[in-house]
Amino acid sequence: MRLAVIFGVALAAAAETPALMPWPASAKFDAGEIEMNVGFSVSVAGAGANDARVKAAVERVYTRLARQTGLPILPPRAGTQPPPALRVIVEEADHRPPQQLGDDERYSLDVSEAGIRLSADRPLGVVRGLETFLQLVRQNPASSPSKAPGFSVPYTEIRDEPRFPWRGLSLDVSRHFIPAEEIERTLDGMAAVKLNVLHWHLSDDQGFRVESKKYPRLQQYGSDGLYYTQTEIRDVVAYARDRGIRVVPEFDVPGHASSWLAGYPSLGTGAGPFHIVHERGDANGVIDPMKESTYRFLDGLFGEMAKLFPDAYFHIGGDEVNPRDWSNQPGVQAFLKKHHLESAPRLQTYFNQRLQKILARHGKRMMGWDEILQSDLPKDVVIQSWRGQTALADVARKGYSGILSTGYYLDLMQPASAHYRTEPLAEAAGRLSPEETKRILGGEAAMWEELATAENLDAKLWPRLAAIAERFWSPASVNDIGSMYARLEPVNQWLEWLGLKQRSNLQLMRQRLVSGMPVAPLNAFASILEPVKGYERHRSGWGVTTPFNRLVDAIPPESDAAREFSDRVAQYLTAPSVPAEEGLRKSLAGWVEVVGAARPVLESNSLLLEDLPLADALATLCRRGGEALSYRTEAPPAGWKAQALADIKDASVHRAHLLIAIAPAVQKLAEAVPQ
Ligand code: ACM
Repeated sequence: MRLAVIFGVALAAAAETPALMPWPASAKFDAGEIEMNVGFSVSVAGAGANDARVKAAVERVYTRLARQTGLPILPPRAGTQPPPALRVIVEEADHRPPQQLGDDERYSLDVSEAGIRLSADRPLGVVRGLETFLQLVRQNPASSPSKAPGFSVPYTEIRDEPRFPWRGLSLDVSRHFIPAEEIERTLDGMAAVKLNVLHWHLSDDQGFRVESKKYPRLQQYGSDGLYYTQTEIRDVVAYARDRGIRVVPEFDVPGHASSWLAGYPSLGTGAGPFHIVHERGDANGVIDPMKESTYRFLDGLFGEMAKLFPDAYFHIGGDEVNPRDWSNQPGVQAFLKKHHLESAPRLQTYFNQRLQKILARHGKRMMGWDEILQSDLPKDVVIQSWRGQTALADVARKGYSGILSTGYYLDLMQPASAHYRTEPLAEAAGRLSPEETKRILGGEAAMWEELATAENLDAKLWPRLAAIAERFWSPASVNDIGSMYARLEPVNQWLEWLGLKQRSNLQLMRQRLVSGMPVAPLNAFASILEPVKGYERHRSGWGVTTPFNRLVDAIPPESDAAREFSDRVAQYLTAPSVPAEEGLRKSLAGWVEVVGAARPVLESNSLLLEDLPLADALATLCRRGGEALSYRTEAPPAGWKAQALADIKDASVHRAHLLIAIAPAVQKLAEAVPQ
């Protein structure tokens, strides 16, 4: 019942303001709307009208609109030209293959009595603008003057362009393999929120995920059979290109390379034996930077991969290398002396410089994590910062371009608000010159897959990735957390219409957990739980044999119900009122009922038994919360506050890697009780 109310609030807000995300650079709305109906069609004019991406994007609009509205909308039959409901104008063609950093993505979208008009100078502007058009489509409000049942697009005048040219998702497919189909679904979502770079983390200690024809032992010995064929890679790259997304491959070297050494042990530092890492904590394999054969191999492999991935950028990772692996190797001192390197860590500098030259020969610009910055490298190298805004500002000051990933690690289970508040230019204002600031190209969300699988990937990405996409696309002034959350809920629904499975897959996983019992009590119970944050869960171990079929795997990273309750507690504590108090009491009483209904389900299924202590803890929180509301105006019994806070603290501890997300708000209620 509570959920219905919460969704009601979010949807009411959405009906007033279209749930656009990312919010456009400029948007005005007017009274009036254009009806969507079965005869909907699109015309495309202008010098860029024949662009393959424009054509494909227009085709997709028909299917998407039909799906969103339930109207039997089809592309016009060959040879017919119905009057278009949407007129698209692409002023100029774009013949430069492949897509490039800084491509023109601007568009204008006007909806008025004159019709719907989307215009852009270049094809990518149309690809972006069509997503905005689809986000505008909504059911006619019952309050609209016509009251016509159906769907429409509100009158609007939108002028839009991105704030940053590099808006990416870094996706690890090594720790857990993500099949091509899921990658394509992720690309659909990325395009929907105007992200434009898929950074594909294709190799790590746990798996080398691309077929190499030149070095087939890489996938044969390094992937447990889970890798993309070259045909699949080409298909994904083409799929991404159709959606205006560049694909930057990452082959992480010289550390995180155990999977390479399984098939090619002579690449490694030391004698081996080397093997794929199957469990957390296994030793990392490190590539030997002192052997000439290493560079011949990398030249061969990168040459092959450079052809497979047409983007100008090529990511070599470079993170978390332990120089101790090199420092005790025979011959290291002589090598350092010969190459004028002061110590073993400088071997990575030497390695990066060699790699950069190899990549340049294959027409690529090198990219890597923070750690490669120690090297004296040409200034066209791009640095991806996972060490923070200060490190990123340092990158820009040294003359390099950089992107931010700190603060956007989706695997850490942070709320959307935390990512949304993370600002790529936080360290730039007043500290960097305009020229240096321009070197900060944008950012990438990062999804590491130690604890995620193809089954719950969507839920780990969405909808938080949409909030990050807004940070990268929209003006910095678009930063209202309340507005973001009000739009995030309908955007989340919209993304499911597009085919993402963040809700549906979790629902299936919870159905699996209840084994035929009703799932509603588990859903209600799960709705105020969140996975433990940060690396806490990683520490308890994970690996290829770890099952990810527990309740913690089957819930979203963020509880909407708990956030809404916390907001109401905050309002109540600032301005107490009887209705507000009643509302809070109702919520707490509702969760007591939820505990009662969920308990038999938890008791009956072996995979849920570990969650029973959470039911007890939730009951305690509800009781202590209710008492705290009473004792705001009447004196509590002696010792109540200390005991209540101790109980709340105990109930706040994570159990089965789960947190009860209303605990902090209940604690605030108890803290507010006078001594
Ligand atoms: C990283 O998180 N090691 C880049």
